[in-house]
Amino acid sequence: MQSRDRFLKFAVGNAFYHSRLFVDLMKNAEALAEGDLSQAATDDRLGIVISFARAPIASLSKTEGMTETEITNAEESVRTLSLRLLQGMKYSTLTKDQQLTYLRGMSLVFLRLGPPEESERNAFLEQLDGSFPGADDELNRELCQALVYLKSPTVIGKAVGLMTAESRPTVTEDLQDLLARNRGYGGAIAASAANAPDQQQVWYAFCLRNAKEGWTLDQRKAYFAWFERAHRWAGGASFHGFLKNIEEECFLNASEKDRLLIEASGARKPYAPPELPKPAGPGHDWTLDEVRMLAESGLKDRNFENGQKMFAATRCVICHRFGGSGGATGPDLTQLAGRFTVKDLTEAIMDPSKVVSDQYRASTVVTTAGLSVTGRIIAENATSVTVLTNPEDPTKIVELAKSEIDEIQPSTVSIMPADLLKPLNQEEVLDLLAYLLSRGDKGNGMFRR
Ligand code: HEC
Repeated sequence: MQSRDRFLKFAVGNAFYHSRLFVDLMKNAEALAEGDLSQAATDDRLGIVISFARAPIASLSKTEGMTETEITNAEESVRTLSLRLLQGMKYSTLTKDQQLTYLRGMSLVFLRLGPPEESERNAFLEQLDGSFPGADDELNRELCQALVYLKSPTVIGKAVGLMTAESRPTVTEDLQDLLARNRGYGGAIAASAANAPDQQQVWYAFCLRNAKEGWTLDQRKAYFAWFERAHRWAGGASFHGFLKNIEEECFLNASEKDRLLIEASGARKPYAPPELPKPAGPGHDWTLDEVRMLAESGLKDRNFENGQKMFAATRCVICHRFGGSGGATGPDLTQLAGRFTVKDLTEAIMDPSKVVSDQYRASTVVTTAGLSVTGRIIAENATSVTVLTNPEDPTKIVELAKSEIDEIQPSTVSIMPADLLKPLNQEEVLDLLAYLLSRGDKGNGMFRR
């Protein structure tokens, strides 16, 4: 083992990947995982982590005829060794360059050799959580990204705090002096510089979009409010589109429950449907059996655009998100095709009260004063419940103190109306069903070419 360790230290660079040594190490992977490198210098250990995390281990099946099991073993051993090396260091005592390498090494190991398990996540959080935010912008950017990845319980609060702090001018003091002396152009340049984006804050917004859970409502509000400020900054042509995408992605990464809360609380403007189109009709009082019969042979040569139009004409779009837009008071229907057969789908539309999930169930809340409020309970804490009273308008909410509540009766009837297909003719019903089952893909075989 002694000599192997000496070689390990030099295991850096592409030449290494083509060497006999690399192949030998990978073929004796178990020994590698046990290698004692405690005497190696920090930079060498970091170098080993990076070089192993990048190693083209899988390609050894072709070049060296290693079996799948051998490859998996090698990858696992490399992963174990790398994580052990990183955990053997104390992040806070490293130099800036070493810290950057440490973070890069950790990400590489998790991305290329398998995501962290709970205990590994916690071990790295213990190392890293306390170091964010530090004094260095560059390190802060890398740390923020790493901590979001590790699902740090504190990173959202800290990064939102940095986003809502006063933005830092990107103009250095020297430049400001120069501008002050140069009245002619100075004014215009100073004005645009003062309005320049705070790139550090943009970065935090960008990282936080990936944080799916762990937000408080106040943090959500502060996060989404930040975009209004950021949109006033002068950026390149694509800057505002970029901000819009970040904002949208963050919203979509939230659970459906959180999305509704975000809209109901005013943290983000709720979806506003355009003026709804009218179906051509004539309508018919469709029964479940009739619609199922139609769908049995009718889901071909459909019209995608007309299906999309019917999704709006029958009001689905007000409550449901599908393929990138729509309301948040009902479930997102985009991935419905994977979960629903035609039979389930027709039943969900025509007989919505048959199955109602608890998350969406309406309730009637009766207060001790005799007031009764019907709607969906979208939030509850120790002292109050929040009821959404109009499923077509997420801003219509009533907050009731628990001390004033006499009883809460769950409703057996769905919030979703049952007769929505009534105004549609046969072709329109079929176009709508095909649209719903297409995941929003025009190229689906159900549609006319
Ligand atoms: C007033 C709001 C509202 C409208 C309008 C509405 N829905 Fe719904 N929908 C809901 C709610 C709330 C639920 C979840 C509760 C339930 O299952 O009843 C739901 C459930 C569903 C489900 C079951 C989804 C699942 O994941 O379980 C489907 C499918 C569906 N709706 C399709 C439609 C279609 C198609 C339209 C238009 C023809 C439509 N809805 C119109 C509110 C609405």
